[in-house]
Amino acid sequence: MKHIEKYMLEKMHDFLKPIDTIWQPADLLPDSSRDTFFNEIKELQESAQGLSYDLIAVLIGDTITEEALPTYESWLTMVDGVSKDEEGGWMKWTRYWTAEENRHGDLLNKYLYLSGRVNMRMMEVSTQYLIADGFDIGTGTDPYRNFIYTSFQELATNVSHRRVASQAKKQGDTLLSKMCGVIAADEARHAKAYKYFIEKIFEVDASEAMLAFEDMMRKKIVMPAHFLREVGLKIGQTFGHFTDAAQRLGIYTAVDYVDILKELIEDWHIESVTDLSAEAEKARDYIMKLPERLLRVAERMKNPMLEYKFTWING
Ligand SMILES: [Fe+2]
Ligand SMILES: [Fe+2]
Repeated sequence: MKHIEKYMLEKMHDFLKPIDTIWQPADLLPDSSRDTFFNEIKELQESAQGLSYDLIAVLIGDTITEEALPTYESWLTMVDGVSKDEEGGWMKWTRYWTAEENRHGDLLNKYLYLSGRVNMRMMEVSTQYLIADGFDIGTGTDPYRNFIYTSFQELATNVSHRRVASQAKKQGDTLLSKMCGVIAADEARHAKAYKYFIEKIFEVDASEAMLAFEDMMRKKIVMPAHFLREVGLKIGQTFGHFTDAAQRLGIYTAVDYVDILKELIEDWHIESVTDLSAEAEKARDYIMKLPERLLRVAERMKNPMLEYKFTWING
């Protein structure tokens, strides 16, 4: 990790944008200091009326996931083997990444509040629960597993926000479409960063990197909101309904999971990594065969048809 930290410092400004000029939620939201404010809200609410129930549900789930950022930041600082130097690569990256991410929940939360479609109290209860419940994603405090998880997860959030953007556009909400589009672009940059860090690890510690990749794929990449719940429910009880809605709408599906895995295999040149230990060779075999296997499972999966009434949504 000491080896990687210098790249993190060096490359930080390639992967993260300058704070003074990057978009802010205010660039996309109605400005309450202007006379046009109430008209803009009226327009925002009219287009939000056209969004389907499932799309609103997925958007709320995505927003709560973004709002649980304190969980992810505290988890990143617990990783083994990193320098705790405030100005070192790890801590500085973590702060700057968090600062960029923080805008996502901020923007979506304000949009949902203004939309008139959401029971904000119920959504806020779920958010508070998710932060309080934390997560258990199987990485432990291992930095390699950690980076593999974030590589995967940033790609997954890119897909999810991008698809919400395109569906929102189809359903007539161009403002929401734009919002999810700019968020998706941030996630794509973050994915590039984490993939690059793993690439650097493969250069110097290929066998351990391969074993970490295999281990994470055997455990399956669970989403950070897998503990999602609503008022009165037990930990994790809402999560399945959220992913059902996402699968039904084609926002994030089992096939997307396989596509992300394929992308990682390609970008990390898993097929041509050399100098692997015998155990790591076996791990590579497992990884290389996995997309085919998962695709067969995905094809057999039925689209979840059961609609669920979330407490988050009015009416
Ligand atoms: Fe995000
Ligand atoms: Fe992200």
